[in-house]
Amino acid sequence: MSEPKYKRIMLKLSGESLAGEKGYGIDFDVVNRISSEIKELVDLGIEVGAVVGGGNIWRGRNGGEMDRTTADYMGMLATCINAMALQDSLESMGVVTRVQTAIEMREIAEPFIRRKAMRHLEKGRVVIFASGTGNPYFSTDTAAALRAAEIEADVILLAKKIDGVYDSDPNINKNAKKYDKLTFQEVLEKDLKVMDSTATSLCKDNNIPIIVFALDEVGNIRKAACGEKIGTIVGNF
Ligand code: GTP
Repeated sequence: MSEPKYKRIMLKLSGESLAGEKGYGIDFDVVNRISSEIKELVDLGIEVGAVVGGGNIWRGRNGGEMDRTTADYMGMLATCINAMALQDSLESMGVVTRVQTAIEMREIAEPFIRRKAMRHLEKGRVVIFASGTGNPYFSTDTAAALRAAEIEADVILLAKKIDGVYDSDPNINKNAKKYDKLTFQEVLEKDLKVMDSTATSLCKDNNIPIIVFALDEVGNIRKAACGEKIGTIVGNF
């Protein structure tokens, strides 16, 4: 078994990743597979924070017709549904979790309180951060970057459909080249769409590396957390 490289990680899961092949809603086979991989990290003694997106339930704005802020708040609610599904799945495997939400809904989950989140992590609980940043106009990637900075995570594991960062879309360009390593400056200058620019800048300014890798390959979350060479690492090199 590999040794962990990072003590505390922030795992970012897109909402779509929870939908599996269906492309919408929640596929519990997929969620359970992700949970068993998270459990491996916890068993290795790694402290895990997680941010989930909401795109499997709500993909903003109804073709641009809706008010942006309303659509964004609907997206934040969608992240709560996903957070609860992930919590339920993890707890069914004996992993202790806490969901903290950026928008207060006390009957459903505890509010985001940074110092409490830190204590939960120190106690080996997985903390799932719901409702994004709690603000419209900010993505859940930005929420992952913000919470990673707040909980002093060593790295963000950005689990994607694609197995790293390419110089062009590999679905369109067969000669697209995958990067092993990139600086945040390069990501911003080349507009590489790893995360949106707000999230990328936040990671750059706070010196939080990001590992981009494919979620579909079983074992990748552990490999990334143990510093094995997978995907693309983005940092201030
Ligand atoms: P310790 O400080 O280590 O005891 O943490 P703890 O999370 O076990 O303590 P606490 O008594 O705060 O929480 C007990 C349970 O209640 C946990 O499952 C929390 O997630 C949950 N909880 C705490 N605050 C709230 C809240 O405001 N709303 C909801 N819905 N649940 C909460």
